[in-house]
Amino acid sequence: MSVKSFLVIASMALSVLIGVVLGRQGTAGDGVAPDARPVRIGLSLDTLKEARWTRDRDAFVAQAGTLGAEVTVLSANGDDNRQVADVETLVTARMDVIVIVPHDGRAMARGVEIAHRAGIPVIAYDRLILDSEPDLYLTFDNERVGQLQAQYILDALRDAPKPIRLVRIYGSKTDNNAALFKAGQDAALRDAIASGQVEVLHEDWADDWKPENAKRIMNAAITRHGRNIHAVLASNDGTAGGAIQALREEGIAGKVIVTGQDAELVAVQRIAAGEQAMTIYKPVQQLARRAAETAVALARGRPLVARDAIDNGRTQVPSLLLDVVTVTRDNVEDTVIADGFHTREDVFQGRP
Ligand code: GAL
Repeated sequence: MSVKSFLVIASMALSVLIGVVLGRQGTAGDGVAPDARPVRIGLSLDTLKEARWTRDRDAFVAQAGTLGAEVTVLSANGDDNRQVADVETLVTARMDVIVIVPHDGRAMARGVEIAHRAGIPVIAYDRLILDSEPDLYLTFDNERVGQLQAQYILDALRDAPKPIRLVRIYGSKTDNNAALFKAGQDAALRDAIASGQVEVLHEDWADDWKPENAKRIMNAAITRHGRNIHAVLASNDGTAGGAIQALREEGIAGKVIVTGQDAELVAVQRIAAGEQAMTIYKPVQQLARRAAETAVALARGRPLVARDAIDNGRTQVPSLLLDVVTVTRDNVEDTVIADGFHTREDVFQGRP
């Protein structure tokens, strides 16, 4: 037997082996292999409250459709018990694979266990599921998001009088991403804080990423420290919007640098109007497409190649991290508009 034919046979045997290890082969108890019928994908969302999640859902369902897969979407509206029940519903409905955006990364460990007990593989989407063994984690480089947000403030105020008087608004404590964004911000700010170039006046976590909670944090900061604030390191556009509302009430919106994330339309409009300084664009359509492709591959027991691995407290989860882009007034045309994420008309609303 030639070396070449030996290698071909060996790699085929290997891929079947990996498929079995990673893919759990996806035959969801109906005995019909997913190759012989449309793949059934369950998509369990935390919420559809923030604009981005409807985009993720629509792009995911569309891509899955082009791959001949059927998607059942359930949204838990921020309720952990409901989200676990949603996973049980998807298991009972014999999904071949389940994709989860956890409200609470710890609480959804139970969801992974329930799915695995039924032989169904699980993909953690955008947010990591902790203390369990999800088959794959697909997300953006979340620490880089935080690093870019903080670095933007340091660069923008490089020549400003010191110390930079900073307010920090973190995301939801139940969301592992909020900790990753903060870790990236901390890394970028460490030296500036240690040298006294930056003074953190006030910091807090916005429960459930709610804008009204971010506004409350900003009001508390202004009550305690007055209006002499140079920048607000807000972790996403929703919390940025809450903070800017408080700044408007004080007549200082546009005079204080405010960061964001998600490139929501309202945020990009605020950037065009000069009330918000920047946001982080995460091309969710790419993430959703990759997720649909890998979900179908997992369901069909195809081998997956994951470039990264992230520790979730139980194991090194095979992971894929997509890159992100800083959006400011200067590059809004070349980023979110060029990508068709928003239209020029919507962003500038008739403004030149
Ligand atoms: C994070 C997500 C962000 C932001 C936030 C609020 O997990 O990565 O894009 O939207 O949730 O939903």
